[in-house]
Amino acid sequence: MTTAIKDSLFIKSAFSQSTERPPVWMMRQAGRFMKEYWAIKNKYSFLEMCKTPEIAADVTMLPVDLLGIDAAILFSDILVTAEAMGGNLDFIQGVGPKFSNPVRSKQDIDALQTEVEDRLQYVADAIKVIQQRLAGSIPLIGFAGAPFTVLSYLIEGGSSKDFKRTKLFLNNEPALAHQLLAKIAKVTADYLNMQIAAGVNALQLFDSWALALSWDDYREFSHRYNVDIISQLDRQDIPIISFCKGSSVFAPLMAEARPDVISVDWNADLKHVKNSLPKGVAVQGNLDPYVLYADRAVIKKKILNLFERMRGEEGFIFNLGHGIMPDIPFDNVKYAIDLVKGFRY
Ligand code: CP3
Repeated sequence: MTTAIKDSLFIKSAFSQSTERPPVWMMRQAGRFMKEYWAIKNKYSFLEMCKTPEIAADVTMLPVDLLGIDAAILFSDILVTAEAMGGNLDFIQGVGPKFSNPVRSKQDIDALQTEVEDRLQYVADAIKVIQQRLAGSIPLIGFAGAPFTVLSYLIEGGSSKDFKRTKLFLNNEPALAHQLLAKIAKVTADYLNMQIAAGVNALQLFDSWALALSWDDYREFSHRYNVDIISQLDRQDIPIISFCKGSSVFAPLMAEARPDVISVDWNADLKHVKNSLPKGVAVQGNLDPYVLYADRAVIKKKILNLFERMRGEEGFIFNLGHGIMPDIPFDNVKYAIDLVKGFRY
């Protein structure tokens, strides 16, 4: 990592060093709330965009150029690992991801591949193109889906509100669930190490739907695989961010996996979470994204409240509690980012 990147607001905050203000980026910053995204999306399918390094780089750069955020995030999806393992994945407009061959049996699990680095080479290629475009200006965050969250899509065959099939599978077929989780974890660790080798400056593990699990099930079916993955990473000087919806409950367990940063949903008081964590674990978050639909005065008030709450804390990265929704007005996102950038501790 270059000295300039090491000294960036984002990397320093991720390693709990003091900065003049918190860095800001937003989950789903490279996406549908920008008309410039649609100009590209209307020409290609989502997977074509992910798999063509020049296009993935174009989309990654949109929020860098249009919003002036403090860290870029690779344009891709958490489900590319499952696709590389053998899932027939399609992203259907207005519906979301769909696997036409959901995993339902031991046979289905046995059929999934675990030596898939070649099939994910396009991601390494995209990272190299993006780093050329960024030219050392701001850090690039790579990412992957955590095994439990990826498993939920493979089992359900797509998104789910209640995770009924997933939970039934964990409850009735725990041995099979562990077989599947172990396979995904192996692919995920290799994939993240590939991203490090290709040049990312930070990594985020997305366990978006961990919130569906009880404490014991989270420990058994999610947490231990995240521990395995994080322990296998060739971390060098790269911070690791651990995200889940539910982190306000699971943060003490998440910290045991030794991430540098825990990304917190909007339910929790961020300072309270920070103070409950071991020293040296930073927090990221946690504005309710729905605030960004509101009037400017409301956006300003809520963001300032969060700052005042976090003033004096080392290791705070400003983000949302979850991703930007597609219909949030672009100008409100820009307004929020400019506000954070104007803040001084
Ligand atoms: O943050 C970024 O801007 C980087 C790119 C990124 C995408 N997906 C692009 C995307 C990242 C980091 C993700 C992660 C992701 N994908 C997660 C974890 C984060 C989270 O939100 O919890 C999850 C659960 C997915 C799975 C997924 N991908 C869903 C459920 C959907 C469709 C519905 C939805 O919420 O968007 C996608 C598609 C997707 N991934 C789009 C984008 C820009 C939309 C594609 C389109 O234009 O149709």
